[in-house]
Amino acid sequence: MVPTRSHALILIDQYLKPGSLKKHVLATEAIMRALARRLGHNEDLWGIAGLLHDLDYEETKDKPQRHGLVTENILKEKGTEESIIQAIKAHNAESLNIERKTEMDYALTCAETITGLIVATTLVYPDKKIASVKPKSIRKRMKEKAFAQGVNRDLIRLCEKIGIPLDEFIDISLRAMQGIASDLEL
Ligand SMILES: [Fe+2]
Repeated sequence: MVPTRSHALILIDQYLKPGSLKKHVLATEAIMRALARRLGHNEDLWGIAGLLHDLDYEETKDKPQRHGLVTENILKEKGTEESIIQAIKAHNAESLNIERKTEMDYALTCAETITGLIVATTLVYPDKKIASVKPKSIRKRMKEKAFAQGVNRDLIRLCEKIGIPLDEFIDISLRAMQGIASDLEL
């Protein structure tokens, strides 16, 4: 089954400390919903995958080879829809040595990765407000290797594997995060 949004939020509160990680999963959800709309997929399914993708992060932050697998155990026990579990594992494909297969697998990986670049770009704007951020700033920062070095640009570029050009992906992602600016406190 697909957990309801309110159930997913309860799980998040149960497993994640309040703060930046919670904002990160909300941002990922917003982008996933926008991508599902763009590609004609189930918005709730994709949104829930975004919300739950880092559920085990507190436990696995120093064990990348476990990140996603602990979440798999938690969600399997609850009878969660397999495609959600698959996409969650696939967002950590490199460490788990598995392959991305579905559009949702690719979408979750590029969506969760671009959130970091968008937040970092917002924080160097004079007013630090996401509403002020222009897509061209994200494009520029995307090319600047020294900026937000922890953000893997190759993973962001995976958007092209699901037929969304990088520029459009940046537009969609920025707009989605601007839509929940107050939740993100940006
Ligand atoms: Fe994440």
